[in-house]
Amino acid sequence: MRVILGVGGGIAAYKAAELARALMERGATVQPVMTAAARQFITPLTFAALTGKKVITDLFGDRTADEVLASSVEHIQVARENDVLVAAPATADLLAKFANGLADDFLSTLYLAFTGKVVLAPAMNTQMWLHPATAANIEKLRARGHHIVPPGSGPLACGETGVGRLADPARIADDVIRIGTGKQDFAGETIVITAGPTQEAIDPVRFISNRSSGKMGYAIAEAAAARGAQVILVSGPVKIPPPAGVKVVQVETALEMKDAVFAHLEEATIVIKSAAVADYMVENPAPQKMKKTAARMSIELSPTPDILAEVGRVKGDRLLVGFAAETQNMISEAKRKMETKNCDLVVGNLVSQHGVGFGSDDNEVTLVPRGGAPVPLPRASKRIVADQILDHVLPLRLALRSAS
Ligand code: PMT
Repeated sequence: MRVILGVGGGIAAYKAAELARALMERGATVQPVMTAAARQFITPLTFAALTGKKVITDLFGDRTADEVLASSVEHIQVARENDVLVAAPATADLLAKFANGLADDFLSTLYLAFTGKVVLAPAMNTQMWLHPATAANIEKLRARGHHIVPPGSGPLACGETGVGRLADPARIADDVIRIGTGKQDFAGETIVITAGPTQEAIDPVRFISNRSSGKMGYAIAEAAAARGAQVILVSGPVKIPPPAGVKVVQVETALEMKDAVFAHLEEATIVIKSAAVADYMVENPAPQKMKKTAARMSIELSPTPDILAEVGRVKGDRLLVGFAAETQNMISEAKRKMETKNCDLVVGNLVSQHGVGFGSDDNEVTLVPRGGAPVPLPRASKRIVADQILDHVLPLRLALRSAS
């Protein structure tokens, strides 16, 4: 596979050297292209030495007019000769240029001429990443079908701690290779994935809910769609954008989630229940806002339907993956839920650990397969964890399919 590595001007530019090496280790040839800003952080010599290629730096540089004329279509030629363009670090400036079609240097001009697959690995300060302008550019690029490798969180070069770190170069390389080779190992599968919390109304302005952000379920949906699955994402109320190429069914309550799951069950070959469904609901929410009084108050709650268990009772030859969010005894609880809800695989999530579980960008889970030994996965971004969960789901699904 032939990959253009576009290096943007950010402190993470040095990690692009690791990415070049990781891509080559995976059998790719790498053509480095550096912006002028990138060359303030790392020299072209590093990339030339690693890749054995002449590093393309700018459109004109200090070349003579004849040299410029002789290579005036270099960006077109490079665009034609390569399969994937990966920009890492994709700075806010690069994302804005790509999103809006600016072409004032070699990399942005090349981007417009390029018709292959595009992978963008953003890295920047947290506030820049969260700025509505960057978010809008990301959405534009995602809608164009480009693959975004989301930044991780941790200490940043600016001294702050937050989201904005370049994703692990090995993970970016894996995504580039998968997207470049078009690994579609979930083609032909239809996956119903639930994500986020449910909200159970007490009255028109109050509800019972939990801290689920939807990030884990959305990451699984994004990964599955990238691997060729038809994805139906049944989502409780969350504040994150839906992944590209996924059918989203918005719900609010456990009852609505159950209806949406069962409405799509017939077509599903795999069901993954990562949602944090409220376990109790108010059977008859007050029609008007309840008034505060000095008296103590109690609200009667009734259990919500256990959607996973209900699917488990009628699952047929579908593969059923449940989650178990626990603060203790995770493995035994995961095994118990496996039996009571008739799952094929349970993803145990010890949510009492700092930096993982509810709301975080990272997760650390243990896969508990039916009849098999638990498989702890290393702590990683939810998107990486999502792919690893799918890597374990696939052989189970293939085994079920060949048995049926
Ligand atoms: O959304 P994030 O912020 O990214 O956080 C991710 C997560 C922590 C929510 C996720 O990784 C996770 O652990 N999801 C399961 C949350 C949960 O409610 O677990 P549980 O152990 O209470 O439920 C067990 C299983 O039964 C789950 O698959 C759940 O979807 C399902 N369930 C539970 C109750 C119910 N009424 N119906 C159900 O289907």
